[in-house]
Amino acid sequence: MWRVEIACAAGDEDVVLARLLPLELAAADTETPGLVKAWFASREDAEQAGGAIFEEEVQNWNQSWQAEWTAQPVGQRLWLAPPWDDAPAPQGRLKLAMHPGTLFGNGDHPTTLLCLEALERHVTPGCRVADIGCGSGLLQQAAKLLGASKAVGCDLDFAAAQAAPDAFQGSADAIASASIDVVIANIQLGVLERIAPELRRISRGKIVISGLLEDQRIDGATDIHAKDGWISLLLPASF
Ligand SMILES: C[S@@+](CC[C@H](N)C(=O)[O-])C[C@H]1O[C@@H](n2cnc3c(N)ncnc32)[C@H](O)[C@@H]1O
Repeated sequence: MWRVEIACAAGDEDVVLARLLPLELAAADTETPGLVKAWFASREDAEQAGGAIFEEEVQNWNQSWQAEWTAQPVGQRLWLAPPWDDAPAPQGRLKLAMHPGTLFGNGDHPTTLLCLEALERHVTPGCRVADIGCGSGLLQQAAKLLGASKAVGCDLDFAAAQAAPDAFQGSADAIASASIDVVIANIQLGVLERIAPELRRISRGKIVISGLLEDQRIDGATDIHAKDGWISLLLPASF
């Protein structure tokens, strides 16, 4: 096994990791600010990654944190797996590759899982989805798998905008009015209160929000689902 260490500016770890994902990545670690560690089975891939290369005993990396990232079912139709997991999804499930970096949206937070489940319920074939605050871009990937014709993401965080496919750095105000069938936003309540008029402006259908605690229920909301103290819901027009 070959370990590559790539130095970068603190905060850019996910940008570096996003560049490596098309290679045959065996595992990655972005926990140290300013350093990305990536493991490859082939020396050729390690060289393409660009960085300092070290040969490692298989047992070392095998026992590493990679064991923590195992495939799991989400909702009724999705199968969330790390990008180095080659096994097919169980029958009837769609395989969704998680982003193992530090960006929000790995699938290990209840609000992300609530959003994935909400997408299962609300995405219809050919619809257009926007994830406001897209993090790793996981929700966009899921929307496409579930049949959306377009799934755009935006995030104020530069690293997220770089890592997520079809994403831009910015917020809902840069999206055309009445252009999105399913708007989804997993953001804390204070921010949602500020951007709610923009979410409504771009929506021509449903607005799903998560990132709320159980005691932050919104009057008139429907399709309320809870997980580990967090909730997702459909935003009522009155909010
Ligand atoms: C909790 S994460 C959600 C990531 C992903 N959508 C998910 O559900 O796992 C919230 C993201 O929203 C971004 N964010 C916060 N305020 C925002 C705003 N006003 N417009 C766009 N993105 C915003 C943050 O940078 C962060 O990446």
